[in-house]
Amino acid sequence: MCGIVGFVGSGNAKEKIIDGLKRLEYRGYDSAGIALPIDGKIEIRKHVGEIKNLEKIIGEAEFDSSIGIGHTRWATHGAPSDVNSHPHGNMDSSIAIVHNGIIENYQEIKEWLIKEYGIVFKSETDSEVIAHLIGIFYDGDLLAAVNKAVEEMRGAYAVCAIAADEPDKMVAVRKDAPLVAGIGKGFNFIASDIPALLKYVRQVYLIENNETVVLTKDDIVIYNENGDKVKRDVFNVTWDADAAEKEGYDHFMLKEIHEQPKGISETLLRRLEEDGSVNLDGISMTKEDIESFNKVYIVACGTAYHAGLVGKLVIEKMARVPVEVDIASEFRYRDPFVDENTLFIAISQSGETLDTLAALREAKRKGARVLSVVNVVGSSVARESDDVFYTWAGPEIAVASTKAYTTQLICMYLIGLYMGSTKGTIDKEYYNKVLDELKALPGKVEAILDKEPEIEALAKKYHRKEQVFYIGRGLDSGVSYEGSLKLKEISYINSFAIAAGELKHGTIALMEPDTLVFALATQDFLYEKMVSNVEEIRARGARIIGVSKEGKTEIEKVCDEVFYIPQCIDEVSPVLAVIPLQIFAYYVAKERNCNIDKPKNLAKSVTVE
Ligand code: F6R
Repeated sequence: MCGIVGFVGSGNAKEKIIDGLKRLEYRGYDSAGIALPIDGKIEIRKHVGEIKNLEKIIGEAEFDSSIGIGHTRWATHGAPSDVNSHPHGNMDSSIAIVHNGIIENYQEIKEWLIKEYGIVFKSETDSEVIAHLIGIFYDGDLLAAVNKAVEEMRGAYAVCAIAADEPDKMVAVRKDAPLVAGIGKGFNFIASDIPALLKYVRQVYLIENNETVVLTKDDIVIYNENGDKVKRDVFNVTWDADAAEKEGYDHFMLKEIHEQPKGISETLLRRLEEDGSVNLDGISMTKEDIESFNKVYIVACGTAYHAGLVGKLVIEKMARVPVEVDIASEFRYRDPFVDENTLFIAISQSGETLDTLAALREAKRKGARVLSVVNVVGSSVARESDDVFYTWAGPEIAVASTKAYTTQLICMYLIGLYMGSTKGTIDKEYYNKVLDELKALPGKVEAILDKEPEIEALAKKYHRKEQVFYIGRGLDSGVSYEGSLKLKEISYINSFAIAAGELKHGTIALMEPDTLVFALATQDFLYEKMVSNVEEIRARGARIIGVSKEGKTEIEKVCDEVFYIPQCIDEVSPVLAVIPLQIFAYYVAKERNCNIDKPKNLAKSVTVE
């Protein structure tokens, strides 16, 4: 995690770096810092907390330069503090670096630097070793010193370095952590992600793994790991920086909840032809490929993993192929059964989640065909996949994922429909029925959003609960996990999701009078069974909020409250059922005065293992 920004041009580096860092706070926000070469020395200012804290201490006019690097941090090694913040400098303040990632062998390097060079470390971070390594290798050539330092480092990193003796140059290097170079006229940028640069440039180079970049104000030169110059195509950014603004909403999360109808429509429209067929433009999977798959793995983390739980049931039903869903950090270490007849689906909003990327590489190494479902165009997961199914959610800024999840679900349906119709495991009538239901979803999500005050009232009533359960069966069980994650990550309430039928095998012991339970009952064929499960917990005195389809009112008898979603076929109900759960989590967190868009200990893009 962490966000990096570097600028080289003429004047005002400070302002541009701060602008960029603000756009990268989703990558971490527990401290921020900036380093500028001034009068033959590198001056560093850094401060724990959000970027506004840093801004307060860098106001002075004399603290500016035409080149500089900045960082917003998500702590891995060493607690959030001024001293552990980046940038880090070497002993005589002639070198400074910013780093995103983890240096796995930093202890070893640190001991060596202390023993051989008498280096005195200021911080508890792994990153500080990089500044000292470059410092000891530096003899007037920053590129050469960075290359030598990299030879010593193991782990994942995007690093950007500056040297006081070469105040016209930045050197950056990438291994398993994202990096883009922004192309300006008379200035250039380096950053962890495109939004950091969009105010100033629309053209970027996407830096690949193991590449090093040298940036001056007029030039960007990319080298591969053998030290050869690389020619890279320019990537034109077509989306707008304004899409990343709050537009009058109190929080990005609420804005993004409200953007779901649009995201769902866009994701559908990009992939649907007028005749209703799923268009696979840019996807090279053939009919033969699809028929050859005897197994599908869906691998992801967090909310994206929860989209996979729904995807499993949908693809199994439509394409009649066994689907396993796995958490990316588990998949890569368990020697999974993967071969050339395996379809591996990676789901990731950011496309930079290191666990997902590593799982994808492992699957590829074993011969799987890799299809990714990704929101960020040009991200690492997208680039390393054989095929990409983009979600068109637009930039998601709030740490808690909402619109990415619902658009990921849409991709699951489209993949299921495509595979099923190609294999002949679903007929035209069923295909058209699901398609009509998908097309109706944006309007139905709007209808739920219109009932926001109803959910807000529930949040006001129940926001003091310290424990909340989410239960459901079938597709509702997957949605329960997502509802529970939303609540815990932004309100810090201890929430727990479980398949409703599994409750009685242990977890029901936790039911107390007044325990709050969300009971999802949107699956018609499981409705009666679900009502029975609710009876079981009601008998223990729990308070129950049911989520059911309009017209299915029997559940009212066993619930304290019921929220109704519009009628739909069971298959697509997760897209609707999750909306009240997102809104509930949002308003509970608001009632509890939590930092909704930037919950504690979290970051939007998780590029560490
Ligand atoms: C939760 C959330 C996280 C992410 C997870 C994977 O609201 O946002 O659980 O879903 O870190 O991130 P991506 O989708 O970027 O791979």
